[in-house]
Parts: sequence; structure tokens; C-alpha cells
Amino acid sequence: MLVRKALELLSNSSYQYRCLVTVALPQIRRTPAAMATVPPPDVLRQPMHIPKKTLLGPGPSNPHPNIIEAMTQPILGYLHPEFLEIMDQTRAGLQYVFQTNNRMTLAVSGTGHSGMEAALVNLLEPGETVVICEHGLWGQRASEMATRMGCNVVKLPRAPGQAFETYDEIEEALKQHKPAVLFVCHGDSSTGVLQPLDGLSDICHRYNCLLLVDTVASLGGTRLYVDEMGIDCVYSGSQKVLGCPPGLAPITFSEAAIRKISNRKTKPLSFYLDMTLVGNYWGCFDEPRRYHHTGPINLVYGLRAAVTEVAKEGLENVVARHQQNALKLHRGLEAMGLQLLVKNPKFRLPTLTTVEVPEGVDWKFVTDHLMNKHKIEIAGGLGLTAGKVWRIGLMGYNSTEENVNRVLAAIAEALSLWEQAKQSAKI
Ligand SMILES: Cc1ncc(COP(=O)(O)O)c(C=O)c1O
Repeated sequence: MLVRKALELLSNSSYQYRCLVTVALPQIRRTPAAMATVPPPDVLRQPMHIPKKTLLGPGPSNPHPNIIEAMTQPILGYLHPEFLEIMDQTRAGLQYVFQTNNRMTLAVSGTGHSGMEAALVNLLEPGETVVICEHGLWGQRASEMATRMGCNVVKLPRAPGQAFETYDEIEEALKQHKPAVLFVCHGDSSTGVLQPLDGLSDICHRYNCLLLVDTVASLGGTRLYVDEMGIDCVYSGSQKVLGCPPGLAPITFSEAAIRKISNRKTKPLSFYLDMTLVGNYWGCFDEPRRYHHTGPINLVYGLRAAVTEVAKEGLENVVARHQQNALKLHRGLEAMGLQLLVKNPKFRLPTLTTVEVPEGVDWKFVTDHLMNKHKIEIAGGLGLTAGKVWRIGLMGYNSTEENVNRVLAAIAEALSLWEQAKQSAKI
């Protein structure tokens, strides 16, 4: 109140008055903060409690120590030349991980959902048609977003655990609906399905349709060569196979996708996710870089370290490691008498395995036991698989033989305890 009055006087009054107020103003500002009526919460007097856990669910996963180390480095300004250089190095690393020469390759500030929204909101305009392969929750999520954007959404559903084994139904939908975009989730973390993509872009391009692929749960742990596969837009998430904390969504756009964006009749519905503006900040175009939003500086350091870890091990080796550890896990689970949800091994996602909960077993008893006794996270189902499966993730730094053995032993122990509890309840 006093400050407002002083400012009014300052603008309306004579020179003498202005001098007086200018001298008095700092005194007024220094008055103790009597306005704060909400006291500091007592909980802030205690340190944060953060236990160490092994995250073998659908993500986030435990990061490589080098990634955490990178994130503790000093903060730079969002346009400082040293930070721009780190962004450039991160882009180059992402091009390697995506296996693409796409100039529009960057990381959106936000989790995997921001990648999904950025792709849809830039590639589609209201009223346009998108065909969405719904073989799990992530196709349903894309349908929800595209519907909100005012697009005409054509859904191709699949039962949980099923992939599109042939492209016949997809091609039929492209022929009939002439969509601008086809959406496919490469690795669906709700069902554990790996959807093959080879040859799909040829079909899309025959019908003048862009191919958009979600690789939030698969990038780095599966064979995904964006240029070779002719995919037009791919996004991912930092916190799963790349093993960085959550908060960045790597994304890449082909030249055809860039053309579609440049020829839009309307501006993208989101300013924050306008890829032309964000692409300029990331240095994707041959033009001076401008502020668009404050980049999440330390997360970018983390992502730079994450792509470095992939480069050090070699992409092919990283993919092979995920494949081998997933196979060991699958064999171990089957040896225990458990069934995998995805019946055909060809369609099993190596980074995330869905295991059917046997009749009469309480899925939560098992997940709770793993957490309480071993500090190991595995998850229950999600969407259509809720209550029906366990989801076990072996992602990035966590995809090790030791973790496979630990999680198998802990599940066997939990199931045997469940049996014992059932028996003693009968007695
Ligand atoms: C395949 C897939 N797409 C999208 C997402 C959404 O990512 P986020 O939770 O990071 O926003 C997830 C998250 O589990 C996912 O597994």
C-alpha cells in the first residue's frame, strides 16, 4: 500500500516530492516482512528422505553415475556460448542415437508427453486426419491429444499384447482416409509390445502421409535407424533407456516433416512447443539463435552425458545388451512357470517385459514384497493391462545380468511367500 502510494507520488508530483520519495522508498522497503502471514512449514526443517531403489519398472530408470555428475556442474546462461556448444554436442549425440542426419533434431523441454504433443501439434492442423495404431495406452493417449486439437482421428485398435503383424489394415486405412499422419508407438510400455517398423514408411509415403513414431520406451534399447527406416518424426524421453532424469524429450523431424510444418496454414496451437521457434533456439537452422524459453540447463548436461555413454559403448552393443538381458529374463520367468503377455517373441519389447499375473495371485503382494524387502521397483499393468500383468523394465544402465538375477530371485521369493500365506490361511 505504502509502496503504491509512493510510486503514485513519484509519477505525479514535483521534483522536490520526487527527491523526498526516492530517499524514503528504501526505508519503506526495508520494513520487516510483516505481510507474510503463512509461516514456513515445519516439514522443511527435516532433510529430504530419498531411499536408494533399483528402478526396474517402466521408467524412470537409475542413471549412470556420470550423468548425475554432469548435472551437478555450474549453471550457465541459456544463450552463453559454452551452453550453446553443449546443446550442439547434445544434438550431434541425438543424431547418433536416432541414426539420422536430420538437421531438426533437438530435445523438447518436458517429459515424453511433451514430445508427443510437440509432434502432433506441429505436424497436424485442426481438421486434418490422423490414423493412430492403438496397440496400447500410448496410441490412446495420442488419439486423445489429436482429438483435443480438432483433428479427425481414425483409430486402429489391438487387444493387449498384440502387434500389427502385417501392414494390411494400416494400408487400407491410409487408402480410405488419406491422413496427413500415421502414428505408431514403437515400444508400448503398457503392453510390452514392440511394433516392427521396417517398410512402413514406404507405405505411408505412397499415400502422401508422414510416419510419426513414439520411441519413449524403446530408443537406445532396440534397433531404430530413423533415416534408413524413412521415419518422418520420432520422439522419445530422457528418463528410460537413455538413463537421464525425466524432463527432456529428444525429437527429430525429416525434411518432409519440416516442409509440412513450413507450409502450415495456421500457427501451431502451442507457442511453447512451436518447433520452428524451439528449433531456432537449438540451432537447427542456419540463422542466429534467439531466446524462446529458458533451457533446462542441467538436464541438458545430463542428456549430453547420456548420449556420451551410448556413444562410448556403441549403439549396436547397447542394443545387443538389452536384447541379451531381456532374453535371460524371459527364460527365467518361463522357467518359473510364468507366462509372458506377448506370445510371439518377435514382438517382445526388450526394454520392458509384461508378465501375466497367474490366477489367484495378488499382483500387489509381489510388487510390495520386492519394494519392501529388496528396494526393487517393478510395476503393475497400465490402461487395459491394469491388474493383469507385471511390468519389468531393464533399461539403460539397469539392463544388466545382475539385475536380471536379482529380480528373478525376488519374484520367486515373493511367489513362494504368497503360496505359503495361502496355505496357512487354509489351515
Ligand atoms: C511409450 C511411451 N510413450 C509416452 C510416454 C509418456 O512419457 P512421460 O511419462 O515421460 O511423459 C511413456 C511413459 O511411460 C511411454 O512409455
